[in-house]
Amino acid sequence: MELSLVAGSANRPLAAAAAASLGIPLTSADVRQFPDGEQHVQLRQSVRGADVFVLQPTSPPVDKHLIELLFLCDAARRAGAERITAVIPYLGYARQDRRAHAREALAARLAADMVTTVGVDRVVGIDVHGHSIEAFFSAPFDQLSAVPLLLQELVRLGFPSESVIVAPDLGAVKLAERYAKDLDLPVAIVRKTRVSGTEVTVTGVIGDVRGRVPIIVDDMISTGATIRAAADALLRAGARPGATVVATHGLFVGDAADRLCGDWLERVIVADTVRPHTNTLLPLHMVSVSGLLSDGIGRLHRGESLAGLVTYE
Ligand code: R5P
Repeated sequence: MELSLVAGSANRPLAAAAAASLGIPLTSADVRQFPDGEQHVQLRQSVRGADVFVLQPTSPPVDKHLIELLFLCDAARRAGAERITAVIPYLGYARQDRRAHAREALAARLAADMVTTVGVDRVVGIDVHGHSIEAFFSAPFDQLSAVPLLLQELVRLGFPSESVIVAPDLGAVKLAERYAKDLDLPVAIVRKTRVSGTEVTVTGVIGDVRGRVPIIVDDMISTGATIRAAADALLRAGARPGATVVATHGLFVGDAADRLCGDWLERVIVADTVRPHTNTLLPLHMVSVSGLLSDGIGRLHRGESLAGLVTYE
């Protein structure tokens, strides 16, 4: 079965790098928007009988990129693809995986239903927010992790021995423990409450951060409100400036970069699961997941195990 890698418009540089590392060209596809706002896709090459991987993070603008992904999978199925795998390096809507308030939609479940409805045989994600998402997909779901790559970069750049790994909210505690174990550092936890999409409040810091330099770890940075509130609380609790922030997905929406910039921050390390941010003021270090993806895609194509690439909790 021939291997085909199709890219949506959300992160073509990542798809091109993964294709190059697989030693194949990207399958030619036309992806555009009509003047009325409708999305339109067309595969420019035959994929009949092929093992098709469609790579598209559903990053902002989330709905546009989600629709493109669905359309590309549908186009591949209708064009006679033998097997279709949706490779979604960043999964939008994953944070809406439960109803936190009355009469809300369960958006993560619906997004998963849409992806499986178009006939994908398998889904591959990277550090998806919340492991329970796997249960929302009726197709097999493999979750790869960029954390080993981020850890490697952190070690390469170096950090003070009197650092402390910080979970900026309770949801990040397991992740923080993973970093702390590998780096042999203590853990602190910030108690966060979300007020709105752009506002969070901190009610306290658990753990001793006095005189320590924070390494704040999270799965994603969206508006930067979580990280900034955590940083301010850590400084108030006696932490030293010069913090490092590490996250898999750097969305940096709106004025996130301005919110994050400041003397408290030494650097931000993120992966390229979404298209790299271009604000030059942010001390950004990018780690590419192209090798991780090409390794995963190659193994799935050959029917090999993903051992060492996937995460379980
Ligand atoms: C929340 O549970 C996530 O892990 C992130 O902490 C959060 O979504 C980041 O969003 P923002 O940057 O807008 O605070």
